[in-house]
Amino acid sequence: MVGMGPRKPPSRRGSMADVPEDLKSQIKRLEELFTVPQEKLKEVTDHFISELAKGLSVDGGSIPMNATWCMNYPDGHETGTFIALDMGGTNLRVCEITLPEEKGEFDIIQSKYRMPEELKTGSAEELWEYIADCLQQFVEYHHEGEELDQLPLGFTFSYPATQEYIDHGVLQRWTKGFDIDGVEGKDVVPPFEAALKEKGVPIKLTALVNDTTGTLIASAYTDTMMKIGCIFGTGCNAAYMEHCGDIPKLAHLNLPKDALMAINCEWGAFDNEHKVLPRTQYDIVIDKESPRPGQQAFEKMIAGLYLGEIFRLVVLDLHKSNECSLFKDQDVSQLEKPYSLDAGFLAAIEEDPFENLSETHDMFKKKINIDATRPELELCRRLAELIGTRAARLSACGVAAIAKKKNLGECHVGADGSVFNKYPHFKARGAQALREILDWPEKTKRSEKDPIEILPAEDGSGVGAALIAALTMQRVQKGENWGIRDPKAILEAMKSAKK
Ligand code: BGC
Repeated sequence: MVGMGPRKPPSRRGSMADVPEDLKSQIKRLEELFTVPQEKLKEVTDHFISELAKGLSVDGGSIPMNATWCMNYPDGHETGTFIALDMGGTNLRVCEITLPEEKGEFDIIQSKYRMPEELKTGSAEELWEYIADCLQQFVEYHHEGEELDQLPLGFTFSYPATQEYIDHGVLQRWTKGFDIDGVEGKDVVPPFEAALKEKGVPIKLTALVNDTTGTLIASAYTDTMMKIGCIFGTGCNAAYMEHCGDIPKLAHLNLPKDALMAINCEWGAFDNEHKVLPRTQYDIVIDKESPRPGQQAFEKMIAGLYLGEIFRLVVLDLHKSNECSLFKDQDVSQLEKPYSLDAGFLAAIEEDPFENLSETHDMFKKKINIDATRPELELCRRLAELIGTRAARLSACGVAAIAKKKNLGECHVGADGSVFNKYPHFKARGAQALREILDWPEKTKRSEKDPIEILPAEDGSGVGAALIAALTMQRVQKGENWGIRDPKAILEAMKSAKK
């Protein structure tokens, strides 16, 4: 990269000067398609609020608003040793977490196992066996030769699940491109436990946890202002605490009205009926070609799994269009492959520090064998910005909706996930959108904080899952057995946790 120009922030406006008219007018069209103005953000947020309420009602709505049976914030004094398992999209992570006497502290050891791509569309037996294998390896490696009782496990299963109990969960549907037969509509815990038993792995599932609930609880462990947990990663979603008295669909259980219940919103399903979201023709294609058309309308516009694919569809469409010349006479066969570009590709375009977009040029050549001209790269850069900005702005609508519903004037939101952590400007764009939706006055000083801040979260699927297992045990100890299928087994596992 020596001699390619100084590393200074590019002045994007000037760089459009040499873009030919046909591409300029396409850029303008894309700007109109992908920009979500303040008024639209507010409209989306208002509809979001009513859909959150609908999800809690007896009749239900598109957003599942799943009761999780995580019924408390941690107070920082939770103790014990727990196993946490995170079945993410790319990796399977197993951790052992010790919560010591010291308030808000934790120790962690962890191992990562690659989640083979074939497993995502394979059979249920293969999935459970693979997971049990990883847990077995972990236990054998870290506890070689030890006599073990049942170690308590917090299992982060980040898919929509109906939980009648915390140690139970019926998968509503796969998301994020997973498509394993014979799991949807069934409780995932019995086959998981059967696979553990078969291999003799000494682990007792204590809590089945969503990554958002884990994020909320892990963040609240060290910051009492944390009121919402969000994931902006391969998928997207949020969790927050509701009062049981405000959950009409649980009224028949006669839970104490002022008791808390973490709600896993599953907001990826927001607007499945396409009432407010500004969908483009490209979003429609993404949905149609996905394993679950009609599902996860919101997620498909904002989550990491889809950002690169939206970009690919737009660029390919422009290449084929008669109205402009993009990648003319280039071999686009690589670009024709669905999901060949990921969010990291867009992030890299946005991060190219060079005025002449030379890094983007090289990446196009290397990854998709396209030798793009400077004006073509300018269009791609603008498109990446538009897609990334739309994602951040729409995400903010979900946060604003929960904040408004719960009257959270001031709070912290704990966020995790690859898009939140790695996508350039995602945080700043989201914060700007929140300001527009909630009409906060302009900041007078740079150091001033927004009333609601979205901050990087603690490790939800590790520490969060362990804390939820600990909180569940505490409830059993107090005899608060709501939503706990097997309190006796949990008390047993507690003995190992405290050893
Ligand atoms: C899942 C949620 C999860 C989110 C983030 C979505 O696809 O349905 O359960 O929280 O992804 O991982």
